[in-house]
Amino acid sequence: MKTEQVAKQTVGVIGAGVMGVGVAQNLAELGQEVVLVDVSPSILQQAEAQIRQNLRFRGMFDRSARVDPDAVMSHIQFTLAYEELRRVDFVVENVTEKWEVKRPVFKTLDEVCRAEVIFAVNTSCVSITKVGGVTKRPAQVIGMHFMNPVPQKTLVEIIRGFHTSDETVERSKAFLRGMGKDCVVVNDLPGFVSNRILMLTINEAAFVVQDQVATAEDVDTIFKGCLEHKMGPLETADLIGLDTILLSLEVLCESYGDPKFRPCPLLRKMVDAGLLGRKSGRGFHLYEV
Ligand code: NAI
Repeated sequence: MKTEQVAKQTVGVIGAGVMGVGVAQNLAELGQEVVLVDVSPSILQQAEAQIRQNLRFRGMFDRSARVDPDAVMSHIQFTLAYEELRRVDFVVENVTEKWEVKRPVFKTLDEVCRAEVIFAVNTSCVSITKVGGVTKRPAQVIGMHFMNPVPQKTLVEIIRGFHTSDETVERSKAFLRGMGKDCVVVNDLPGFVSNRILMLTINEAAFVVQDQVATAEDVDTIFKGCLEHKMGPLETADLIGLDTILLSLEVLCESYGDPKFRPCPLLRKMVDAGLLGRKSGRGFHLYEV
C-alpha cells in the first residue's frame, strides 16, 4: 500500500518494548514526531539502540531502505515523563499485556492528553470496551492491533469498542494510511479475530511439544511444509515473546471463563526460566542476540 501524505503530527507512543519500538521507528521514518514513554532509563536506552540496529540491518540488506539513522532518531523524544504527552495529537499505547498495568496508564493518559486526542490500544487480547470504560472519552478509544515487526507489516486489525465513534474509526484509518498501512475493522471481544484463534494454536503447539509428540522444529516444519504457512506457530510465538503469549492466554482464559485457553504448563515453565523467545535469545528455538 502507498503511504498517504498526512499533516505532520506528534504521536505519543507508550511502552518501548517490542511493539512500541516498532511503532516509534515506523512513525519516525515517515517524519512524524514521536514522544516515546517508558518506565526506566535503561529500557529507553535499549529501545534507542534497538531502533538504530533495526535501521542499520535493513539498510544492509536493502539499499533502497537506507536511511540516515541520526535523522530518524531526531524525530523521537525518549522520556519517562507523561507530562510530555500534553502536546501530542494521537496516542498509540503498547504497554505490558496486563490489566493492572494498562488500567492506570489509561487513567493517566486521560488526565494528561488533550480532550480530542484518540487513544489507540495496541493489545493482543484486552477488551477495547473495558479500556474505554476507564477513560472519560470511550468514543475516542479504539483497538489498533499492529503486527510484528511493525515497520514491515502492512495490515492492522482495528477493533471497534462498544462506544468507539465512526469519526474515531475514520481518523484511525487515516492515521494508518499515513503509516503506509491498510486495516480490517472488527468488533470487540477479547482476542478479536487474530489472537482468539492464534493463541489457541500456539498453546496447543506447546502442548504437542510438552507431550513429546514432536519437537518444536518438527511442529513448525509441518506447518510450513504441509500447510504452506510462512512461519510455524512456535516460531511465531518466539517472535511475539513467550511472556506476551502467556499473558494473552491468561487474559483470554479469564475473559471467557473458558478452560480451553488455559496456558500450557511448558509455556509457563519456559517463561519462569527466562526463555522468552527472540528477545531473550532462546524460546522454542535458539537465536543470536
Ligand atoms: P514488551 O513486554 O516487549 O513491552 C512492554 C513495555 O511496556 C515494556 O518496555 C515496559 O517497561 C513498558 N511499560 C510497562 N508499564 C508501563 C507504564 N506504566 N508506562 C510506560 N511503559 C510501561 O511487550 P510488547 O510485546 O511490546 O507488547 C506490548 C503490547 O502490544 C501488549 O499489550 C501486547 O499484547 C501487544 N502486542 C504485542 C505483539 C507482539 O508481537 N509482541 C503484537 C501485537 C500486539
